[in-house]
Amino acid sequence: MFRANSSRTLGRETAEADAQHTTRRDIVRMAIKKSPLKKRDLEEIAAAFATPFHIYDERAIRRNARELLKAFAWNDGFKEYFAVKATPNPFILKILKSEGFGADCSSLPELILSEKAGIVGTGIMFSSNDTPANEFQKARQLNAVINLDDISHIPFLEKNGGIPKIISVRYNPGEQRAGSFIMGSPENAKYGFTRDQIFTGYSLLRQKGSRRFGIHTFVASNELDPDYFVETADMLFDLALEIEEKLKICLEFVNISGGIGIPYKPGQTKVDLAYVGREIEKKYKDKIRGTGLHPLSIFMECGRAITGPYGYLVSRVLHKKEIYKTHIGLDANMANLMRPGMYGAYHHITVAGKEDCPHDCTYDVTGSLCEPIDRFAIDRSLPRIETGDLVVIHDTGAHGHAMGFNYNGKLRSAELLLREDGSVVEIRRAETIEDHFATLSFGRLDRFEV
Ligand SMILES: Cc1ncc(COP(=O)(O)O)c(C=O)c1O
Repeated sequence: MFRANSSRTLGRETAEADAQHTTRRDIVRMAIKKSPLKKRDLEEIAAAFATPFHIYDERAIRRNARELLKAFAWNDGFKEYFAVKATPNPFILKILKSEGFGADCSSLPELILSEKAGIVGTGIMFSSNDTPANEFQKARQLNAVINLDDISHIPFLEKNGGIPKIISVRYNPGEQRAGSFIMGSPENAKYGFTRDQIFTGYSLLRQKGSRRFGIHTFVASNELDPDYFVETADMLFDLALEIEEKLKICLEFVNISGGIGIPYKPGQTKVDLAYVGREIEKKYKDKIRGTGLHPLSIFMECGRAITGPYGYLVSRVLHKKEIYKTHIGLDANMANLMRPGMYGAYHHITVAGKEDCPHDCTYDVTGSLCEPIDRFAIDRSLPRIETGDLVVIHDTGAHGHAMGFNYNGKLRSAELLLREDGSVVEIRRAETIEDHFATLSFGRLDRFEV
C-alpha cells in the first residue's frame, strides 16, 4: 500500500471547500476539467506504482453518490443499483454499498463481485440478457431481484433456479422512444419485452407463483438531457397504471435504469440530478400518489454518472513521432481504455504540470496496438509534449478499465484509489505476463508432436 506523507493531502482542495462550494467547484472543474492530482503527486504515485494506471477519487465518488440520493430523498423506497459493469471492482462496490447503493449485475462474475463486496439479496438487481442457466441459478441463490429480459426466459428460469416471489420485467418501448448512439433505436435493440409481452409475461409469472412485481427499462446511454429521464419515469408510471387496471397487479417499483451521461467534453453540462428528482416527483404526485400504486419505489442503475468523472487514466509519454502528423505514443493503449477507439468517444487530456500552458500544438495521442483505431485523441490541441511527460486522460471512472481486452497480448493496468485522507491504495494490481499465459500449457506444448 502506498501512503502519501500524511502531513499534506495530495494537492487537492480541502474537505471544507468541497462541502461548501460543491456546485461552484463542479462547474469550474467541468469547464476546465482539472485532475484532483498535481504533477508532483502524480510523479510520486507513478514512482510507487508503474504507469499506466487508473486512479479513482473516493471523496468525489461519495459526494456524487450522496447528491443522487438527495435528489430522490422524497421517494421512500428509492434505490440506486450501481451498474457493476461500469467499474467492476469490489472496493468501489464496498464504498458504494456504504453509501446505501445496491448492485446491478449482468453476469456471473458481477454477481460474485457483489457478493464479495457484501451486496446480496434485494441489494442486487440481475439485469442480464441471453442469460446462461448457471447465472440465473447464482442470482436465485443470492436471492437477487431478477429483471427478465425476454418472455421465453420465464420457462427457462423456472427450470434453472425457479420462479421467485419478487420479479421484474424489462420493457422495450419500441418506436415510443428514441434511443441513443451507443444503444441504437429501441425497436432494433435486442433488449426487453414488447408492450404486449409485458401483459402476457406478468400474467404468466403470477400463474407460476410470483407475487411482487417491478418494471424496468433502459433505452438510452450517455444521455445528457435531464428531461429524457423524466419522460422515462413518466412512461413507466403510465404503464404501471395500465398494468394495475388490466391485470390488477400493483407494481412495487419502476426501474428507470442508467444511461445518465457525463460531460466528457469541456463545455458540456452535467445532468442536474436535483432537477431530475424534482421533475419525477411532480409526475409521481400527479399520476401515482392517490392511486393504489402508492407507495411506488423508484430504482436506478446508473454506472457512468456515478463513477465516470472521478476516474483518470495516467500514462507516460514513451515516444514522440514526427511523420505527416505528430504522434504522441503513450504507455497506455486500448487495453486500458477502449472508448475512443471503439466509439470515437472524446476523453479530455491534460498534461501534468502543463495545465496552464497554451494549447499551441496539434497531436494524435496513440497507444501501441497494431490497430489504427488505437488513438486516444486525433488532431487534439494540447500543450507542447515531450517524452517522459505524464498525461492524464479524464473521465475513465466508468466503462474504462472494465472494457479492456488483451489483443496483441497487451496487459491491463492497475486500478488505484485516492482515499479521502489523501493516501493512495492499489485496488487491483496490473496484469502480468503470467496472468496472460495462465490459460496456456507450455508443458503440453513441449510434448506436442508436429
Ligand atoms: C441493464 C443496464 N443497466 C445499467 C447500465 C448502466 O449504464 P450507464 O453506465 O450508462 O449508467 C447498463 C449499461 O450498459 C445496462 O446495460
